[in-house]
Amino acid sequence: MPGYELIGEEEACAVKDVFTYGGVLTRYGHDRKRRGIYRVEEFERAFSRRMGVRHALAVSSGSAALIVALRALGVGDGDEVITQSYTFVATLEAIAACGGVPVVTEIDATLTMDPDDLAARITDRTKAIVPVHTMGIGARMDAILRIAREHGIPVLEDAAQACGGSYHGELLGTIGNVGCFSFDFEKVITTGEGGMIVTDDGAIIARARACADHGREMQDPHTPADSDPHPSGGFNFRMSELSGAVGLAQLPKMDTVIRRQREIKRQIQEGLSDTPGLTFREVPDPTGDAGNTAVFFLESREAAAAFARCWRERGHATQNLPDSLAWDYAAEWSHILGGYPRYRGRKISTLWPQSRAILERGIAIPLQVTMTPDAIDRLIAAARACAGTANLRARPAREARSSASDPEAHRGFRGRAGAARCRRPLRRGARPRGQGRRSSAGRRSYTGRQPQP
Ligand SMILES: Cc1ncc(COP(=O)(O)O)c(C=O)c1O
Repeated sequence: MPGYELIGEEEACAVKDVFTYGGVLTRYGHDRKRRGIYRVEEFERAFSRRMGVRHALAVSSGSAALIVALRALGVGDGDEVITQSYTFVATLEAIAACGGVPVVTEIDATLTMDPDDLAARITDRTKAIVPVHTMGIGARMDAILRIAREHGIPVLEDAAQACGGSYHGELLGTIGNVGCFSFDFEKVITTGEGGMIVTDDGAIIARARACADHGREMQDPHTPADSDPHPSGGFNFRMSELSGAVGLAQLPKMDTVIRRQREIKRQIQEGLSDTPGLTFREVPDPTGDAGNTAVFFLESREAAAAFARCWRERGHATQNLPDSLAWDYAAEWSHILGGYPRYRGRKISTLWPQSRAILERGIAIPLQVTMTPDAIDRLIAAARACAGTANLRARPAREARSSASDPEAHRGFRGRAGAARCRRPLRRGARPRGQGRRSSAGRRSYTGRQPQP
């Protein structure tokens, strides 16, 4: 939960500021009362600068971002949208919410979209392709974009789990036609709940903006909603000013989060590199890995299950793999897919065998940016022990303090906000430190379902 781990005085003061300067909590209108404070707008500007894109639209969640982006690409009733079998359930929910038909590819050893299977599933009804950059790592975007361009189909990158990661020098989310991010509580940066859509395409962002605000189309944040003709439909997916303020305070911390995650992951991979029976996830561009999760494979499903039991007994957490596939694997979602004629009568649990064979051997370990060297060493030692010793479960859980619950683990890092003293109010237009440049650097969202020891 990297963004959350670094929440401090800056976020508390940013929120307090909103109340100090008028207390207007909605992003649009009320110009006189709000005394020049438009935090959501500022967050959008800062985020688009940081990502190096022309347009950014902040919304109420990553799920909302996906729905809005799909609608902005014109996805409607009966349109096929291709995504991958391994993703958080929100990706498919969003396609379904737009009336689209989810067409699901296998994943490969990268745990992202298998481009060969993508090519095989394109039809003349395919309206969009949605690769998902899972657990900080970019999908094989070269191949995916080549296939998409050959067929003239737009690409929407679901970068909810990979904010700050990159692929061959381009930031994830900015490579296809449109990208979506989540700022929920467990992501690289967090606004509690929130999301962002980014694109260089003015027409896409105009449609997205309207869709996120009941169809309001005048694009002028200062026009009262009742003066807008809003001829098209939409939703209330607006981000609140409080979330915008928190986002502005979190964004400058993103580079620190990514740098730290990468370093911790490097140390862990190094520490586990010669562990018998353990192989690492394939990464299309290792330099772009946002570093939020350490993923490796055991030799069999049984070995992975035994590792996971040992790991839990030692008080450590996993993240999705192998224990929460119900949330992250399409073969578990007959409640969504069973309603479509193309899936009716089919045994959904058996549809993506290549993916299942990979996922069932996988172990994913969430990394915390505030881990101390000792906590990292303990994690490596526990992983080596769990990988190598079948009878570990019989051992007393002496080391059952996870890095998350270990009071020593975070020593030396800044703690919570406490009673924040807000000395320097963040006024309109003030650019938070560290923003305004495009990073050459280039994360799974922690969906809250991993056992928290
Ligand atoms: C791949 C993916 N897409 C979309 C979402 C939805 O984001 P949110 O929780 O902000 O609605 C998530 C959240 O975990 C995700 O992991």
